[in-house]
Amino acid sequence: MVKSLITLENEAKKALNGAKNLKELDGFFRVYLGKKGEITLLLKSLTKLTAQERKKQGKGINVLKGKIQQLFKDKTQELKQEEISSNAKGDWLDISIPGIKIKQGNLHPLTQVQRRAQDIFRSMGFAVVKGPEVESEWYNFDALNMPPDHPAREMWDTFWLKQKKRSINTKENFLLRTHTSPLQVRYMQQHNPPLRIIAPGRVFRYEATDANHQINFYQLEGLMIGKNVSVANFRAMIQEFYEKFFSKKIAIRLRPSYFPFTEPSFEVDMTCLVCNGKKCKSCGHSGFMEMMGAGMVHPNVFRAAGYNPKNWQGFAFGMGIDRLAMMKYKVEDIRLFYGKDMRFLTQF
Ligand code: PHE
Repeated sequence: MVKSLITLENEAKKALNGAKNLKELDGFFRVYLGKKGEITLLLKSLTKLTAQERKKQGKGINVLKGKIQQLFKDKTQELKQEEISSNAKGDWLDISIPGIKIKQGNLHPLTQVQRRAQDIFRSMGFAVVKGPEVESEWYNFDALNMPPDHPAREMWDTFWLKQKKRSINTKENFLLRTHTSPLQVRYMQQHNPPLRIIAPGRVFRYEATDANHQINFYQLEGLMIGKNVSVANFRAMIQEFYEKFFSKKIAIRLRPSYFPFTEPSFEVDMTCLVCNGKKCKSCGHSGFMEMMGAGMVHPNVFRAAGYNPKNWQGFAFGMGIDRLAMMKYKVEDIRLFYGKDMRFLTQF
């Protein structure tokens, strides 16, 4: 026998104590208790001894084997326990810690205003329709009683589109629409009166940007046609709209004006709510805010749409959605709506 049983026992105990995990314990088992382990080999070597010697030695080895097996079992148990509790530590979840808040966006203020306006008009029986932003010259001007040489075209300077020679087989010119009024004719061509529509959308103007003007902004067109629709109906309807929109009594005034596609025409002003009539930058220091153009639909517009002007009459109006938003939120500069300053945009 090479090693004394005492040495073997001490070695085994030391190895067992040093095992840090279950994998190392496996290694220990192989070295001492496995098929080719030291203790197994010792037992095998007994065959070479005499019967008497075998008895004497065998007893000692078996006692040692029993001891080491027990120690091995205990250690396994201990390490398993340790592993379980350290795994649990890794998965530890403190449900009382406040979560990471997901930032919630909000609709752009102009979108909110447009939707609110649509809701109010819908409640008054108006249908919402949409039309193209790239419009033909005919719908934007001619059909609205502005033939090519009409000086009023100057009021609506815009961006004209260059046309590829081959791709279009019409002589029509195209432009970014200067107003939503083309929708009047587009809609009347397709539908029979009586009718009530609004057409919100983006429009374009070739002009300098300032606190009140942008090269693109939003309008909401309105059109109501019937047998007896009058200016009085318009006045009542629009007053109702503003009072619903601003949730308070609003002073408005109709000022005579001119548009080629309405006769008579007027401008609708409202007390400036930014300064409550005290005159500020937003209202051009007048105390009134110009809210929209309006009027009774011109006979030539009815003709362009295929209606007989003797049979039908009605009003049309075009309001600026940006103006509405400026009044509602008391914003003095239209440019803020088109900037990308989140500190401004997330306030609504
Ligand atoms: N389209 C006109 C504008 O953009 C507004 C308007 C609409 C005027 C309908 C009268 C009738 O200025």
